[in-house]
Amino acid sequence: MSSRGRTAIRRLGLAVVGLPPLLALPAAAIYREKHRPKLPKEYTLQDLRGKTVVATGASSGIGRATVSKLRDLGANVQSGSRSEGNLDLADLSSVKEFVKSIEKCDVVLACAAEICTKKGETSVDGFDKTFATNHIGLQALLVEIEKKNIHPSRVVIVGSKLERNGLVDPDIVKKENGTRLNDRPDEQYTAVKHYSDTKLCNQMLTTSLVERWPETKVFSVSPGMVDTDLWRNFPAWFQILTWPVRKVALRTSEDAALGVLYACASEEAGEQKSGTFFVDGSVELASEDSRDAEKAGRLWKVVEDLIRERGQM
Ligand SMILES: NC(=O)c1ccc[n+]([C@@H]2O[C@H](COP(=O)([O-])OP(=O)(O)OC[C@H]3O[C@@H](n4cnc5c(N)ncnc54)[C@H](OP(=O)(O)O)[C@@H]3O)[C@@H](O)[C@H]2O)c1
Repeated sequence: MSSRGRTAIRRLGLAVVGLPPLLALPAAAIYREKHRPKLPKEYTLQDLRGKTVVATGASSGIGRATVSKLRDLGANVQSGSRSEGNLDLADLSSVKEFVKSIEKCDVVLACAAEICTKKGETSVDGFDKTFATNHIGLQALLVEIEKKNIHPSRVVIVGSKLERNGLVDPDIVKKENGTRLNDRPDEQYTAVKHYSDTKLCNQMLTTSLVERWPETKVFSVSPGMVDTDLWRNFPAWFQILTWPVRKVALRTSEDAALGVLYACASEEAGEQKSGTFFVDGSVELASEDSRDAEKAGRLWKVVEDLIRERGQM
């Protein structure tokens, strides 16, 4: 073949390989623009001077962006995380220690979560690690606050629409001592499905807390799909492959924080009933499973017993 022919084939090859990503990036940008949060046109954010927000997950991503806006409203934020060296939600004794330092709490912002990618990884207390971090630690934190006779006016739990894919059976959680959440066959396990199960647990916790804390407005929020460090435990190849799409298509933490802030601090959210699930300031229905008060109550009890058995209640 002539050298001109070889060059033409090489160019054609480059076009075939290079064109799809080139076309995908503008498509991703259009997707992001379409999915930017559209909050109500007008709403009033409260003056939070003199108010204390206890926040988890504020060292990064959506939590960090939200507390920055809460501080702009005058709130004093007491933040707990591993990187700040004062809270590991996957360690019940650390949760207890953190709550000792809380003297006042008007709003709880529960934003911390992790996706552990090693199946079967356990916490120091012997629970499944993702479940311990995303759910057991949160329930323990709330119970410790309750024990101190502190009554926040709002609790905002950052959940996820992925809860709709979650599967949780309180009887299995009990039987397996918090190392398993359901009877999904092992071959169908993925880290993201498992994370979704823990987000369903969070949504069930919202349901339980509405009854348990009648004087508090308990809200959950879906922040949308956001470019954060949530995928930090995934392998390098995954991070590299998804990087362009994450950067171009997903929401920024600042955008996602608007809906979380709305639930934490708007007058309008305060007028909604406890248990409301917000998406960008609009009310949506969480999964039917998560709204089953009897089942949610059983999960609360099972988790309470697991915490008590570790001598941490
Ligand atoms: N990103 C999304 O697309 C998306 C979608 C739906 C819902 N969400 C939810 O949004 C929330 C915030 O996540 P993000 O996307 O902003 O992720 P992120 O950037 O990874 O932030 C997670 C936060 O959780 C904290 N955290 C993790 N493990 C912890 C532990 N054992 N103890 C204490 N704190 C711990 C981290 O702090 P340290 O590492 O310093 O401990 C960090 O501040 C999560 O509840 C997540 O489920 C995210």
